[in-house]
Amino acid sequence: RPRVLSGIQPTSGSFHLGNYLGAVRQWVALQESHDAFYMVVDLHAITIPQDPARLRESTRLAAAQLLGAGLDPERCTLFVQSHLAEHAQLGWVMNCMTGFGEASRMTQFKDKSAKQGAEGTTVGLFTYPVLQVADILLYQAEQVPVGEDQRQHVELTRDVAERFNARYGHTFTVPRPRIVRETAKIYDLQDPTAKMSKSAPSAKGRIDLMDDPKVSAKKFRSAVTDTGTEVRYDPENKPGVSNLLVIHSALTGITVPELEEKFTGQLYGPLKTEVAGVFTDWVTPFRNRVLEYLDDPAELDRLLARGAEKARAVASVTLRETYDRVGFLPPA
Ligand code: TYM
Repeated sequence: RPRVLSGIQPTSGSFHLGNYLGAVRQWVALQESHDAFYMVVDLHAITIPQDPARLRESTRLAAAQLLGAGLDPERCTLFVQSHLAEHAQLGWVMNCMTGFGEASRMTQFKDKSAKQGAEGTTVGLFTYPVLQVADILLYQAEQVPVGEDQRQHVELTRDVAERFNARYGHTFTVPRPRIVRETAKIYDLQDPTAKMSKSAPSAKGRIDLMDDPKVSAKKFRSAVTDTGTEVRYDPENKPGVSNLLVIHSALTGITVPELEEKFTGQLYGPLKTEVAGVFTDWVTPFRNRVLEYLDDPAELDRLLARGAEKARAVASVTLRETYDRVGFLPPA
């Protein structure tokens, strides 16, 4: 079974539809066919300021959403990043393997640091991608299922892994991104040229999975489209309509050409209403499952503790080997 690994930030309480369609949905499918490791990346979350009590709650909420989406702790390893010291430990070694210029080219850092301003930009935000390198290499992951916005970080991981292997001898599996083309980038409903994002200035164009479905339905119905009338997949000229078609298709399994045919001769209104309905039908049971998991935080914590144990069995081996390769004196 090929190994996959991925992570998601607990930052804001709810995952958004882009997180789900771009990443989490693939994670659920891959646990059937792959040796799968998935984590809530709380170390990454503190690269921007977090309220401690809220971070703890959103970490549980993230785990509950992953379970609600269909991750099964019997079929995958689900854990919290900070439960393993190995991530920070390998992260340091990877910091020493990454060029300053190389890290400076990360586009997510440029975007995020622009939002934080010079004062608010921490060194942690800068080395964030390098911690991600460590996350991936610790598990010898072959594939990393992510959305398009993470491609550059996985490419960095490849470069650093190859560099380490060349310098110290083969130590790490060189991973590749696993990105589902159709849903690699879900767009903001109000600005369909921008990706749906946790940090968007307005939540109007973002579908948060834990919101009241009525709120989301309304967002779908007021999605920005174009001045035309034809329901057609054309991301260039009809980004809003195309985004709605992609979302519909992903949630129902009906292909985009079939949807185009179905909506022939109809205006955008019926499409928006139908996507709102399709989403509501999917999200309602999802939300209920998440709330059930949250009802028993002790059980959730136990489950995450077991996940951490399984993860450590792999991560500790890689870390020991790495320390040895680098030349650290083993503790007596
Ligand atoms: P994060 O928490 O920002 O996002 C989690 C996943 O959701 C995907 N995603 C999207 N996909 C499609 N359309 C969108 N609009 C959209 N927005 C987000 C992301 O691509 C991601 O797959 N750095 C990572 C977390 C991380 C990680 C890792 C991932 C830490 N260590 C190791 C893989 C492997 C992040 O911030 O994802």
